[in-house]
Amino acid sequence: MAAADDKSLPDFDSSELGTKEFWDTTYGKEVENFNDIGDVETMEKVADWLENCADVHTDDPIIDLGSGNGMMCIELTGDLISEERPNPCTCLTRKYKVVLDKGTYDAISLMPGDSVSARMHYLATVKELMTSDGIFSITSCNWTKDQLLEFFKEHFTLHDEIKFKTIQFGGVTGSTYTSLILKQTYSDTYVLQQT
Ligand SMILES: C[S@@+](CC[C@H](N)C(=O)[O-])C[C@H]1O[C@@H](n2cnc3c(N)ncnc32)[C@H](O)[C@@H]1O
Repeated sequence: MAAADDKSLPDFDSSELGTKEFWDTTYGKEVENFNDIGDVETMEKVADWLENCADVHTDDPIIDLGSGNGMMCIELTGDLISEERPNPCTCLTRKYKVVLDKGTYDAISLMPGDSVSARMHYLATVKELMTSDGIFSITSCNWTKDQLLEFFKEHFTLHDEIKFKTIQFGGVTGSTYTSLILKQTYSDTYVLQQT
């Protein structure tokens, strides 16, 4: 029998965190919420668009801004991100062919304080991160297509839109998500190439 001061004994009490049931329930709820809010569908549609885009190739540098639980990277692994080795370009480059955002511009827009400055800073950062022929995929559940286009219009143009199921509320029909593929405007990329 172990002595009371045996250092091999834990000095904390047992709790439900040590039961498989607790973690099964916790992760079960997470999966339920994840499915309920349609996030899987959104993520898959964005990933499908990228995987089918002739301009995006395996091992092109990709950055996911505010990657959350990293599910988007996992979704892209195999098709766009090599499974054998981490994409070395992604680690070393400062410029990315694909800049992904799902929900991060939304979060930044909700920042306490001067959220307009934060959004302007975000825009400048995205521009800075992208190659001149890069693709910026932005998915929002707060902003409409028109609002996003208005905000990004000086530096980006619409290349494509990923469509989601629409909902009707108060006689108005709208989409649950807005997901746009933007490219830098020609004048901006021209300036970049000249400098
Ligand atoms: C709604 S989550 C989206 C996560 C993930 N992209 C997804 O689709 O599940 C917002 C992400 O933005 C990041 N974030 C929130 N506020 C931020 C801020 N002020 N600056 C930078 N990142 C921020 C969070 O860390 C989180 O990863």
